[in-house]
Amino acid sequence: MAWIDISYKGGKYIKMRKLNKNMEKKSIIEDNLNKIILGDSIEKLKDFPENSVDLIFADPPYNMQLQGELWRPNQTKVDAVDDAWDKYDSFEHYDTFTIAWLKECKRVLKEDGAIWVIGSYHNIFRVGKIMQDLGFWVLNDVIWMKTNPMPNFKGTRFNNAHETLIWASKNKSSRYKFHYKSMKAFNDDKQMRSDWHIPICLGDERIKINGVKAHSTQKPEELLYRIILSTSDVGDIILDPFMGSGTTGAVAKLLGRNYIGIEKEAFYKKVAEDRIKKVVPVPEDTLLYSIEKPKPKVPFGNLIKEGYVNVGEMIVDKFGNNKAKVNANGTISNGEVGSIHSVSARILGKESNNGWDFWHVIRDEQLKPISDLRWAYAKKFMDY
Ligand SMILES: C[S@@+](CC[C@H](N)C(=O)[O-])C[C@H]1O[C@@H](n2cnc3c(N)ncnc32)[C@H](O)[C@@H]1O
Repeated sequence: MAWIDISYKGGKYIKMRKLNKNMEKKSIIEDNLNKIILGDSIEKLKDFPENSVDLIFADPPYNMQLQGELWRPNQTKVDAVDDAWDKYDSFEHYDTFTIAWLKECKRVLKEDGAIWVIGSYHNIFRVGKIMQDLGFWVLNDVIWMKTNPMPNFKGTRFNNAHETLIWASKNKSSRYKFHYKSMKAFNDDKQMRSDWHIPICLGDERIKINGVKAHSTQKPEELLYRIILSTSDVGDIILDPFMGSGTTGAVAKLLGRNYIGIEKEAFYKKVAEDRIKKVVPVPEDTLLYSIEKPKPKVPFGNLIKEGYVNVGEMIVDKFGNNKAKVNANGTISNGEVGSIHSVSARILGKESNNGWDFWHVIRDEQLKPISDLRWAYAKKFMDY
């Protein structure tokens, strides 16, 4: 394992494990961008680098405890979810599985990333508890009200007409994305509420093969449309560790985002790939709008003045390959002297580059983009 030395705070040296492993793993993301990986998500996610995806949508097995076959009053059999992939022999077994995949998701999610998990009364309470135990920070639970739910044929319980989505950021302090104003405009200029009235997936959208549903739990595209529009940006990487029929990939492609799916059944992988191939993305110029608050304009020098970055401190790129020293006048030097932007551009061999996203400092033994410090400054000293 290689190490880098980074002088920090008055000449004190911190030894930090070079993120070599992360670099090797980085190609996994590039190689699988806009693809579906065949296999078990817990195993496959282990190959992913940490902090590498912007958003996760997970529709895990619900562990439905349906007992026996269900029949309608007219003696036709109900097409309920009774797939082998949905069965766990105990709550304990289901919890072990849930902890394992959520842990991996948390690791691969970027610091300011967020996750959505959908479930029903069978599993969502267990999933929510585990998410909180792992340090995810719950932002909302969104109720998907099914406008056309399947009736309770036995008449022994209320008609189960909703599912629950948990939206959570990676940590309490994550600066998760939320396009509040866009969603308000989407909702006729009324604040978007946490109850979403959307039909279950029927009609042309429902994928069928020889007249039979290709996947028993295909989610409506409208759900993903809201999720992706509200909590990701164009070009973001969206991970779906339980890809099924590919709803996440289809909507991500439509809206100019990247996706990576994982699915353990080869049949579903093929169904999803065939589906996504047919999606035509909306024109790029219809996506390039923003009515959200722009990034704060903070000169790098202000961060030095207020002690967010220290004179003499080394700042590094995200792989620890390039470093530069912070000078008292707001320039940085790595042999050559310039602004955070010009030095990063020179390293990359480009005309210009955004130094805010390129350079990182070390805080609590973690690399932190200097753009995070700009936000912290803006929150403290500006109206943000
Ligand atoms: C609830 S479905 C997802 C449906 C999907 N959201 C859609 O709209 O089609 C869960 C999917 O996860 C897959 N699956 C279950 N366990 C898995 C695992 N450990 N790794 C990868 N895929 C898994 C199942 O085969 C199933 O297709």
